[in-house]
Amino acid sequence: MCHLIFPLSFSIFKSSAVTPVFVQKGEDVLLNVTIADVREEDTVTWRFNKTVNLVRFLPGNLGTKVSDDYSGRIELLVKYSVKLKNLQEADSGVYTAVVSGDKEKQITEYKITVQDPVSPVKLSVDSVSNSSDWCNLTVSCRAQDSHINSTFRCDTHTHTCSQEGGERSQVTPSAADLHVYLSNGYIICNHSNQVSCTKDIKIIENVCPRHAGKTERLNHKQLIIMHSLLNYILKAPFAMQNLLTIFCPHLFYCKML
Ligand SMILES: *[C@@H]1O[C@H](CO)[C@@H](O)[C@H](O)[C@H]1NC(C)=O
Ligand SMILES: *[C@@H]1O[C@H](CO)[C@@H](O)[C@H](O)[C@H]1NC(C)=O
Ligand SMILES: *[C@@H]1O[C@H](CO)[C@@H](O)[C@H](O)[C@H]1NC(C)=O
Ligand SMILES: *[C@@H]1O[C@H](CO)[C@@H](O)[C@H](O)[C@H]1NC(C)=O
Ligand SMILES: *[C@@H]1O[C@H](CO)[C@@H](O)[C@H](O)[C@H]1NC(C)=O
Ligand SMILES: *[C@@H]1O[C@H](CO)[C@@H](O)[C@H](O)[C@H]1NC(C)=O
Repeated sequence: MCHLIFPLSFSIFKSSAVTPVFVQKGEDVLLNVTIADVREEDTVTWRFNKTVNLVRFLPGNLGTKVSDDYSGRIELLVKYSVKLKNLQEADSGVYTAVVSGDKEKQITEYKITVQDPVSPVKLSVDSVSNSSDWCNLTVSCRAQDSHINSTFRCDTHTHTCSQEGGERSQVTPSAADLHVYLSNGYIICNHSNQVSCTKDIKIIENVCPRHAGKTERLNHKQLIIMHSLLNYILKAPFAMQNLLTIFCPHLFYCKML
């Protein structure tokens, strides 16, 4: 669902374009041959990091040779395209399809990065202080390997909330993005990489009932419905979350970078 394939990036110094591809650990990838002007007497080879030959399509009717290291993990498809199964971190690298006859010519190149899905996040309210003028709250959003703290301030008179220092974000040790931000009276924490995303949400009005009024575009009844829908969404599996985001796209859409 979260898969993202960047458009081809052309380089004038290379004979073919490198396509960056991100794959979730444990999933499969289709290695497509995009140009196949292959003559009878040529061999087509899929190569990993320029040195390991995964599979060779031998000329004529000599058949195919799958490297022992990859036997069972490669499925041959039409036109020299193959499926590499159950990718692990060690499979990250450059995959090239090469046609060799009198000369060698690279026809396709993928740069594959295998990523773990991101860990769940937990957004918690660490402290609340309110007065007749203000309600200030600090929250922390925790992922497995990092966290962000942030302070929010709601003004009783204008009924507006703001985030001190603006939106907070951080690149985690596992190279994912962690964000904490304010949107329509909701504090949202999201954690994402190219293959997955997780999020947790707090409704400010539940924390500062008398202060956050106007930032809510919903009335109390709608808010209660929203809240139960929210809890349901947050507990639902990712695919289900995506389906449910149809109802509130601005809030829940876990946009991939
Ligand atoms: C190969 O082609 C298939 C079908 O068009 C597509 O789904 C897949 O993402 C392609 N593989 C890569 C690595 O781009
Ligand atoms: C393959 O190449 C990538 C860099 O392109 C490198 O990070 C990775 O360690 C290499 N993998 C193996 C198994 O040699
Ligand atoms: C909230 O923050 C504002 C601005 O820093 C401060 O003036 C106010 O005293 C704080 N209010 C409370 C109740 O902590
Ligand atoms: C501060 O918050 C508490 C708990 O939500 C509430 O009972 C109290 O009335 C609030 N005080 C003010 C001045 O808003
Ligand atoms: C976040 O807040 C907690 C407790 O409120 C504190 O222990 C921690 O050092 C803070 N972390 C950062 C990065 O400010
Ligand atoms: C997380 O929130 C930031 C800030 O709005 C946004 O730029 C980013 O695309 C969001 N990521 C996900 C996965 O929703």
